[in-house]
Amino acid sequence: MKDIERLSSGIIKLDEMLCGGIPKGFFVAVAGEPGTGKTVLGLHFSWQGIKEGDRVIYVTTEESRESVMKQASQFGMDLESAVSEGKAIIIDALMGHDRWTLTSLDPEQLVQKVIEAKKVLGYGRARLVVDSMSAFWLDRPAMARKYSYYMKKVLYKWDFTVLATTQYAITTASAFGFGLEHIADGIIRFRRAVRGGVLRRYVLIEKMRQTQHDLRMYEIAIVAGKGLVILRPTPERAEDLALPLPVTRKILEAKKKVESEIPGEEGV
Ligand SMILES: Nc1ncnc2c1ncn2[C@@H]1O[C@H](COP(=O)(O)OP(=O)(O)O)[C@@H](O)[C@H]1O
Ligand SMILES: [Mg+2]
Repeated sequence: MKDIERLSSGIIKLDEMLCGGIPKGFFVAVAGEPGTGKTVLGLHFSWQGIKEGDRVIYVTTEESRESVMKQASQFGMDLESAVSEGKAIIIDALMGHDRWTLTSLDPEQLVQKVIEAKKVLGYGRARLVVDSMSAFWLDRPAMARKYSYYMKKVLYKWDFTVLATTQYAITTASAFGFGLEHIADGIIRFRRAVRGGVLRRYVLIEKMRQTQHDLRMYEIAIVAGKGLVILRPTPERAEDLALPLPVTRKILEAKKKVESEIPGEEGV
């Protein structure tokens, strides 16, 4: 499909890997271990939206609004001005005390708040980053898929293209993002490995409906003043970076359980 509308991710090389960007209206899961670049990608996507005149909503569950703005400024993104100029709203689900705060990590409250924010920002193409989505079902992992499906369905009607991060807790299967990944239109996976005593990070587009995309895993860097930089395709095999076997086993078991509980909503 050549002429679907796409949104730039804010990273030119990633757009190329996506054959032009993220299809409009998509609900994309951004998965990976801590420190791999998920939040930085969310910032690029948000900042690109500001530059293009989109309505931008960023939900933060793990860092305060101030921390998000500070991190963005280190990459040359002036989110703070965008917020004060009414171009973006950062919903703080961690420690806010104002109108743009969540009092609990409840998916319905999240959706209501996001819609309220969209109304304030005004009509038009919108971007939403939820960082992280897994926070909303930490204590009820079996609900991950149901919640994700609900959010995707409602938000699509409000002209959102969504990036939702999800993370792996290495010691427990409870926070795994498979529920989200199942209903997502796309999956951008970050990975990490220590090679020669140095932390290396990688990105791989695992899924993107309705479009061709690069199938190679790329090494990335996070650079002050710039943000996320895609370096080169890596000769590493994906299985070299796999999670430890017991963890993988846990994921598969938990995944099977959820799939048996909830009937498929694929293609919605
Ligand atoms: N100003 C900076 N300069 C260079 N690297 C940075 C800077 N700020 C953050 N980083 C790197 O980005 C990493 C955090 O990436 P982040 O996207 O927040 O990870 P996560 O996947 O957990 O969301 C940090 O561990 C650090 O290595
Ligand atoms: Mg993060």
